[in-house]
Amino acid sequence: MARIPSELMDDPRIAEIAREAEARIFGAEDPEELERTRVWLLGRKGTVTALIAEVGSLPEEYRPEAGRLRNLLKKTLEGWLVERKAELEEAVLRDALEGEYHDLTLPGRFVPRGREHLVSGTIREIEDIFIGLGYEVAEGPEVELEYYNFTALNTPEDHPSRSLTDTLYVAGPDGRVEDVLLRCHTSPVQVRVMESRKPPLFIISPGKAYRRDVPDASHTPMFHQVEGFAVDRDITFADLKGTLESFCRAMFGEERRVRFRPHFFPFTEPSAEVDVSCIICGGEGCRLCKNTGWLEILGCGMIDPNVFGYVGYDPEEFSGFAFGMGVERIAMLKYRIPDIRMMFENDLRFLRQF
Ligand code: DAH
Repeated sequence: MARIPSELMDDPRIAEIAREAEARIFGAEDPEELERTRVWLLGRKGTVTALIAEVGSLPEEYRPEAGRLRNLLKKTLEGWLVERKAELEEAVLRDALEGEYHDLTLPGRFVPRGREHLVSGTIREIEDIFIGLGYEVAEGPEVELEYYNFTALNTPEDHPSRSLTDTLYVAGPDGRVEDVLLRCHTSPVQVRVMESRKPPLFIISPGKAYRRDVPDASHTPMFHQVEGFAVDRDITFADLKGTLESFCRAMFGEERRVRFRPHFFPFTEPSAEVDVSCIICGGEGCRLCKNTGWLEILGCGMIDPNVFGYVGYDPEEFSGFAFGMGVERIAMLKYRIPDIRMMFENDLRFLRQF
């Protein structure tokens, strides 16, 4: 197939270039080689570029014909380059399509699905119950000031829970113990919320707490609590009982009985511990309830007027109740988990059961 226009064959120099160009362009094996050929012919210092530049120095009478032939050569080469480029690109695409053959009938790779952790799920269950009662959720810092964790919660200077053996304090650069600690309960959130807002307040606050405990079946140095409190005019102990009874039945079953036992907490007066009738024996007595028929599930009480003093509330005008519960303990009772450490070992055979 004669690609070279016959007119070009009349000038031996042009014919020579056209033949070599044809061989190189149509012999190019890939787009890169073709590009090198283009530069060699038509680039700034290209063979054909130089040939065209020459025209100006020819005797006047030869110029029009010489210019016309050289331009014809240039147009011819440009056409070939376009043609060959399209062929090579098509080949590249064809190779890629053939090389990337996908078998759509192969089964997919298994990607295991995550799930909510038992502790998160239990927190959410507790939150849902209180949100249903009109409470809102608030959070506070895990690294806390001694003031919020103890002092403003009416905890005496010599209270054992303040000691270095019970609570994890942050050490300063010189190794001295600072008044900064890992909160040992979620109760400081009460103080932070009351300090920044006015009643009525109906709040629950889930989160982590830390204690200097050696791990065993019922202790881990980090665990979770949900704190709750209500402050308004005329809040009474009867409101506290009604609220926690509703909670216990929603959480552990409508048939549960609930009892309040007198207790002591520095930040509430009076204080109580709440028990639910044993979820296994229903009160008959069994191993889980150590034959008492009851399971202790939370601490509570009426907010001590001294705590109101720290946040600037008038205890004559406002009253309130507060409560705190251990999330892992509640999950252990509800799902009959024998050892708290199972919740933090990340054994999927355990976690997948919930
Ligand atoms: N902060 C207590 C604890 O960690 C639990 C608690 C008891 C919280 C009574 C309260 C409360 O708000 O009124 O053991």
